[in-house]
Amino acid sequence: MRRGAIVALISIALVVAAITTAIAYFVDWLPEQASEERQGIDLVFWVTVAICIFFFAVVASVSIYSGVKFRVKPDDLSDGPPIHGHTGLEIVWTAVPTICVTVIAVLSAVVLTQNDSSKGKPLRVEVLAQQYAWQFTYPEEGGIKATNLYLPINRSTKLELTARDVLHSFWVPEFGQKQDAVPGIVTTVVITPTKTGEYRLICTELCGLGHALMRTRAIVLSQADFAAWTKKQPQGGGSASGGEIDAKGIFTANCAPCHTLTKAGTNGMVGPVLDDLALPPSAVEHQIRNGGGGMPPFGNQLSDDEIEALVQYLTGSNG
Ligand code: CUA
Repeated sequence: MRRGAIVALISIALVVAAITTAIAYFVDWLPEQASEERQGIDLVFWVTVAICIFFFAVVASVSIYSGVKFRVKPDDLSDGPPIHGHTGLEIVWTAVPTICVTVIAVLSAVVLTQNDSSKGKPLRVEVLAQQYAWQFTYPEEGGIKATNLYLPINRSTKLELTARDVLHSFWVPEFGQKQDAVPGIVTTVVITPTKTGEYRLICTELCGLGHALMRTRAIVLSQADFAAWTKKQPQGGGSASGGEIDAKGIFTANCAPCHTLTKAGTNGMVGPVLDDLALPPSAVEHQIRNGGGGMPPFGNQLSDDEIEALVQYLTGSNG
């Protein structure tokens, strides 16, 4: 190849690489870092982006150069020259991507293994995902249940995830790592928050009509605030353990992702609006227990007392 061609190819590649690097570097693409695990995830992300920028520059330079240099002249209807493959080139473009993919795979495996180890004894939280809500249980804090994920700062929390119905996936962008929640097995992910605040917790696996609404909040508290929060919560799973049943709480925990109900302050849009519900209590109870019309059954998840309280709450009746 002529020297001029090589200079042209390298120049185009450098310009393309400079532009894409500037776009990657100067635009603030990623959410703020709020966990120790995020650093490794970001490293994998940027290494992959760097490799992509390199290959994009190589491919763009050859495409642009060829497009300009080898265009047919007007009225040139002759065939192009017969060319044969180039064994040396083929070996290079097979070997180099193989090396790059191997680098990404090894780096990812190292980061995921590091992220799996917790700092000291982790706080355990059981995460139950279902269409279309999250439930968090704190087995070592008296079985507290919550619909937001409360976490103490600078301490590792080990989330033990499972799902009741279909595949879901746990993701807080600021924390970095995603983890699937799978029916029948328990998967784990370790999070060590480094910043107090509220973050979006979203389902990132298409799980049904309400997938886009299957979101709640991860709330990182100082260690003292977290201890105070655990003391304030009803122990042993809340309303089911006797005492006054909190119908509004049951509604918020189970129905809010899908239903709008003004007096509960919810605005889900998957199912019907439940203000001014014009159904007899028996029909409402049947619907809650058995589901139907796109709604999952709650007969196995709520106690009879809880269902009764919910029916009264929704219909305003005592029967
Ligand atoms: Cu659960 Cu998407």
